[in-house]
Amino acid sequence: MAYEVRGVVARGKGLPVSVETIVVPDPGPGEAVVDVQACGVCHTDLHYREGGINDEFPFLLGHEAAGVVSAVGEGVTNVAVGDYVVLNWRAVCGECRACRKGQLQYCFNTHNAAQKMTLTDGTELSPALGIGAFAEKTLVHSGQCTKVDPAAPPTAAGLLGCGVMAGVGAAINTGGVQRGETVAVFGCGGVGDAAVAGAKLAGATTIIAVDIDDRKLEWAEQFGATHTVNSRETDPVEAIKALTGGFGVDVAIDAVGHPKVFEQAFYARDLAGRVVMVGVPTPGMEITLPAIEVFGRGGAVKSSWYGDCLPSRDFPMLVDLYLQGRFDLDAFVSETIGLDDVEQAFEKMHHGEVLRSVVVFDR
Ligand SMILES: NC(=O)c1ccc[n+]([C@@H]2O[C@H](COP(=O)([O-])OP(=O)(O)OC[C@H]3O[C@@H](n4cnc5c(N)ncnc54)[C@H](O)[C@@H]3O)[C@@H](O)[C@H]2O)c1
Ligand SMILES: [Zn+2]
Ligand SMILES: [Zn+2]
Repeated sequence: MAYEVRGVVARGKGLPVSVETIVVPDPGPGEAVVDVQACGVCHTDLHYREGGINDEFPFLLGHEAAGVVSAVGEGVTNVAVGDYVVLNWRAVCGECRACRKGQLQYCFNTHNAAQKMTLTDGTELSPALGIGAFAEKTLVHSGQCTKVDPAAPPTAAGLLGCGVMAGVGAAINTGGVQRGETVAVFGCGGVGDAAVAGAKLAGATTIIAVDIDDRKLEWAEQFGATHTVNSRETDPVEAIKALTGGFGVDVAIDAVGHPKVFEQAFYARDLAGRVVMVGVPTPGMEITLPAIEVFGRGGAVKSSWYGDCLPSRDFPMLVDLYLQGRFDLDAFVSETIGLDDVEQAFEKMHHGEVLRSVVVFDR
């Protein structure tokens, strides 16, 4: 039996999203249907709507979610009906050349549901990041379900499904921030503030937040930024050097995904430092750097897919830290909204009014 539920669909490039009836099939082998309880609005949803990811419209948006498993297909053993889960968009295969080397965080063949969700006329939907959770129910691969402690409310836990995990992981996993290091985070939205919080968790002693919006900088301080720089008014590279004895930071994180910002991050780090790109550039953006600078500065230039996380390791760990009061997930939630309010939430995100709007489902 297929289910008919409401979901947020982007029908074409730049068009406002609409709430439509979608058809969610019964789970097939290896699949699960999840009753979504909460789903955050991530900038990547807006990238999809803008055609910045690919042209496979219509998209079923939403991918930062927590919920309860309501049906499982044949052969599913990692979750059962009734389990409280955070959805992840990198369900590792265990068999590809990355997985075989033990680098599961890079898995090149991550799993998604094999069946398609559709509109009522049969049009196939492309679920954002293989999830599509601005919907009362969604179909995923069972490996995309990560069980966590149900004591954490879905508005908080769901954030681990994308932006917060990406930011924390960019600092801790990709950047490898160590106790006593200096860190700069460019772009203080949900992802950037999570990188600030991750750097704090890892024991960084200087954490410099950079944004073009003073309101965002104030919020970044609440997550642990020790210094802030408004890069609309001040040259961030000079400011960061001035705050680090003239040297630059050990780890510079671009949480915007823009060539200009990447270049600032590149030049704001100390010799042998690490640059991490976690913001997602749009196709067509290009970076030009003097090759001698790439060589001469040493260190590493890395991108961070999903914070190089392992959902099975990192989601329960961050939920535990949250429940112990050591990692404030609630502080990311600017507002809770209904399914009909996603378009408005994009507007608010665009104008810098929110860190995260989170869709909650009444049941
Ligand atoms: N790598 C991943 O796995 C991953 C996961 C989730 C999101 N992302 C990406 O991370 C980026 C940030 O996402 P978000 O949800 O935090 O977005 P957001 O819109 O909430 O935040 C972006 C922030 O960047 C600031 N900003 C914009 N231009 C800037 C500039 N020139 N200099 C400094 N700051 C600037 C904005 O004021 C805002 O505070 C997006 O590109 C998103 O697609 C990547
Ligand atoms: Zn793999
Ligand atoms: Zn996201």
